[in-house]
Amino acid sequence: MSTEIAREALSVWDDIATFWDESYSKDGNQYFKLLQVPSLERLLGEKLAGATAGKIRALDLATGNGVVARLLARHGAEVLATDGSDNMLRIAADYVEGGMNMKFRRLDVTSDEEFERFVEEEASGFDIITINMSIMDIATLDPLARALPKLLTKDGMYVVSLTTHDAVLRTLL
Ligand SMILES: C[S@@+](CC[C@H](N)C(=O)[O-])C[C@H]1O[C@@H](n2cnc3c(N)ncnc32)[C@H](O)[C@@H]1O
Repeated sequence: MSTEIAREALSVWDDIATFWDESYSKDGNQYFKLLQVPSLERLLGEKLAGATAGKIRALDLATGNGVVARLLARHGAEVLATDGSDNMLRIAADYVEGGMNMKFRRLDVTSDEEFERFVEEEASGFDIITINMSIMDIATLDPLARALPKLLTKDGMYVVSLTTHDAVLRTLL
C-alpha cells in the first residue's frame, strides 16, 4: 500500500501535469537537452546499440510527459512508460510519434501491491529501467528496491538521476 504522503504527492502531480508539460516542453528544457540527454546516452550506450537491432525492452518509471521514454523509443527500444499520475500518462501518450513502440501504464512506485501486479501482468525481462529526475521526491524507495531484481534481466541496466533542473539551470543560464 502506498503511503498517505505518496498519494498526496501524486494528487499534486495530477493537478499540475499540464503546467509541468507546458513549462518543461515536449522534448524537455535546456537542462534536459544539455546535461541529461548526453549523460543518459553515454550511460546506456551499449544497451541502446542493441536497441537499434530491435531487441531491447525498456521500462521508464515516473515518466512524466514521457521525454525519456521517447528518447529510448527513438533509439529503437520497445518501451513501457509508467507514472503514478493519470494526467501525466495522458500527456505522454499524446506525444507518441510514428514508428515508436510504446505502451503506457499507471504504476505508483511506492506500492508493493502495484509492483506485484505489474510483475505478474507485464512479466519481467527489462534490459533497461530508467527513473529520471524523480526519486528525490518519492516518499519511499523500498518497494522499488524490492521490485528491481524481479524486473531487470540478468545484465540489465538501471539508470537513475537524482538531480532536478532549477539549481543547475541557474548556474548555466
Ligand atoms: C519531475 S517529474 C519527472 C518526469 C520525467 N521522468 C522526466 O525526466 O521529465 C516527476 C514525475 O514523477 C511522478 N511521480 C511522483 N511520485 C510518483 C510515484 N509515487 N509513482 C510513480 N510516479 C510518481 C510524477 O507524476 C511526475 O510525472
